[in-house]
Amino acid sequence: MTTQSDTLVSVENVSKSFTLSRSLSDVFNGRHPKVDAVSEISFTLKRGETIGIVGESGCGKTTLGRMLLKLITPTGGAIRFDGADINALSGESELAFRRRAQLVFQNPFDALNPHFTIRRSLYEPLLNTRVPAAEHDRMVGEAMVRVQLDRMLHLLDSYPHQLSGGQLQRVVLARALVLQPDFIVADEPVSMLDVSVRAGILNVLREVRDTMGLAAVFISHDLALVRYVCERTITMYLGAVVEDGPTKDVIAHPLHPYTRALVQAVPVPNVDQSHDPLPLIGAMPDARNPPAGCRFSDRCPLADDGCRAARPPLRPVGPGRRVACFKVPAFTTAQVQ
Ligand SMILES: Nc1ncnc2c1ncn2[C@@H]1O[C@H](COP(=O)(O)OP(=O)(O)OP(=O)(O)O)[C@@H](O)[C@H]1O
Ligand SMILES: [Mg+2]
Repeated sequence: MTTQSDTLVSVENVSKSFTLSRSLSDVFNGRHPKVDAVSEISFTLKRGETIGIVGESGCGKTTLGRMLLKLITPTGGAIRFDGADINALSGESELAFRRRAQLVFQNPFDALNPHFTIRRSLYEPLLNTRVPAAEHDRMVGEAMVRVQLDRMLHLLDSYPHQLSGGQLQRVVLARALVLQPDFIVADEPVSMLDVSVRAGILNVLREVRDTMGLAAVFISHDLALVRYVCERTITMYLGAVVEDGPTKDVIAHPLHPYTRALVQAVPVPNVDQSHDPLPLIGAMPDARNPPAGCRFSDRCPLADDGCRAARPPLRPVGPGRRVACFKVPAFTTAQVQ
């Protein structure tokens, strides 16, 4: 008898560089400019686990999310889903993967075809699948119940422009759940919504997480959201993971200076924010030209020559925690234990 591994998604040394268009001087100098959007990232996601990915604009969150769903191909490394390299999948096995792994779009206002009724959008994922037609009503109905759209059946014959942002985001989520996936990637799922409707959507996300046992990656700028929905949090900076750990520990005792700055910048309810202030210096550097040594060294108030000379590896520093910073032991040994 084979036992099923706990790991659903395994990200192994994954990188993605984009080749940029060449300026006239690039052509003369024989340069081929590129940006390393994601650099050698490794982590695993267990079945039913929810991970939040946080970090500033441009740090590579969406690029990573799109690779997890085989929407773009890594330039290095491999992503395994249930043990199989997703980039080697084709035909039937690729169709099965596309059913099991779904994307929740960032902007509900343009995630749906404006010419389709809500009903048509909700049934569309079932077309061109092997799911028998007799099952379609039940599957759409179940997805609607999960996102509490069943109380809004009158919306089924409406068009997207007739719905509010909160209702649209529920439709977008229901659409992602129709095929009963085991894994979703939600890229900034509430960032376009009014604060007043966010809470309702976040409760739905939590409910879906608990009742469906979905594994999920939530990409967000919003640490408060990640704290509410995700068991684990990964901080990215300039294409790399700089911290990884249980959300409550990462937010209560951030280890990497960048995560410390993020936690201090974002008011997170009921969290002791009495750490020493650690302001970021300057803006995020140009991703085409990252600093030598530690990627964060030119903005880090703790950086010294050692940090500028060598890149700190992501290393284990406590139960379930990893951090990429030479300075961590100096100020955290007591907190990690
Ligand atoms: N198709 C592309 N071609 C060239 N560069 C790209 C492409 N997609 C992303 N990039 C670059 O890769 C880097 C990471 O972009 P990405 O969209 O993944 O960041 P992000 O963390 O999702 O940002 P945001 O929070 O603003 O959504 C950026 O420097 C971006 O300009
Ligand atoms: Mg993005």
